[in-house]
Amino acid sequence: MNRTHLERKRIFFRNNGLSPTEIVKFWRHNGKLTLPWPQFENREVIFTHLGRIGNVLVCKLIKIQADDEILVPSYNCGSEVDPFIWFGMKPVMYRVDESLNIDVDDLFNRITARTKIVYVTHYFGWPQELRDIIYLCLKHDLFLIEDCALSLFSNSADGPIGRVGDAAIHSFRKTLPVPDGAALVLRAANRLESLPEIRPSLLITASEIAPYIARWLLHWMYNNPVVSNSLYYVNDLFPQNSSQSVLSETLDMPSDYYFSDEIMPLTISRISAGILRATNPETVVNIRRKNYQRLFEGIADISLLRQLLRNLPDGVCPLLMPIVVDDVLKWIRELNSMGIKAIRWWEGFNQKLSWEAFPEAKKLKMELLVLPVHQYLNEDDIDYMIDCAQKVAKTKC
Ligand SMILES: Cc1ncc(COP(=O)(O)O)c(C=O)c1O
Repeated sequence: MNRTHLERKRIFFRNNGLSPTEIVKFWRHNGKLTLPWPQFENREVIFTHLGRIGNVLVCKLIKIQADDEILVPSYNCGSEVDPFIWFGMKPVMYRVDESLNIDVDDLFNRITARTKIVYVTHYFGWPQELRDIIYLCLKHDLFLIEDCALSLFSNSADGPIGRVGDAAIHSFRKTLPVPDGAALVLRAANRLESLPEIRPSLLITASEIAPYIARWLLHWMYNNPVVSNSLYYVNDLFPQNSSQSVLSETLDMPSDYYFSDEIMPLTISRISAGILRATNPETVVNIRRKNYQRLFEGIADISLLRQLLRNLPDGVCPLLMPIVVDDVLKWIRELNSMGIKAIRWWEGFNQKLSWEAFPEAKKLKMELLVLPVHQYLNEDDIDYMIDCAQKVAKTKC
């Protein structure tokens, strides 16, 4: 492809990193974290280092016994299911179709006398329809967990996502530039004997913050005309994750997605708490929606790209833009070479689960391409992505 380096931008996937000044500023806030966000109103909110800790806390809360079963969506990351397996539960997958809808009949058929929990995921900000599932849970006395890790600040027609189940899990680093931080939100009063209360060590926080500083530095260099000319080859200095270039049904998920109990006592870091306090949800939602809409319209005429979630309902805060393409590896290679951090989403499989009966989920895990729409991108960035997508599409016609 014929491009000059001056055309090139660097579009990061989640955010543009954090400057050292911001880090110091956020770190200086201390004290108990409370957030006046509507999804937490009148709820018990337990802040944790990572979202997966909340899943173990639920097992403790409802006194799960060995071999009790949990119904989990077939389209999953793997890291949210692993804590239940670690605790001794048997995960039973139910079908999620190629458009990310829960197959309620399939879920119903998998309920047994040992089923204790139903786990549902709101994908990419879009709310799942839960009416029938709530009914099933009430009828069979099942505990309903809503996974909102990908849906911070999103609303359904009934209000903020995550308030109809018995519990909800949030993981803030998917949406906000935080090194860690998550929440378990309980509908009923908390009856847990011990809660995560220890801040992550300086070493843990430093290792999680380092990529943010590197990203901030790169972003600053790209936007500084004096140094940007020397960055022609910088993309090549940061090669993509090698798992992104392998299409395989047996690809493992990253090893740190498997649950490790050392993190159980850890709560959210001081820096993340400071960032959350300073976050204005309305700004995040407005920019993400604007970016999604602009990108959606800009690539709508590219027949090679099929938008998985199409229109943007009122209230949805899109995490990213999921797209179905043939030849996903080529698209990723080309977009990455233009500085756009497009990735395959959840390309690895938790090896403790049996995937054979779920071809749609396998296909999504192997072939779903996602583009960033986060709040640190502006109209120029979105237009650049549209332009690049048009160029890649032309080379394929
Ligand atoms: C849907 C979903 N739920 C839960 C989690 C777990 O979140 P955390 O990484 O904060 O433990 C993840 C992690 O990627 C996820 O994708």
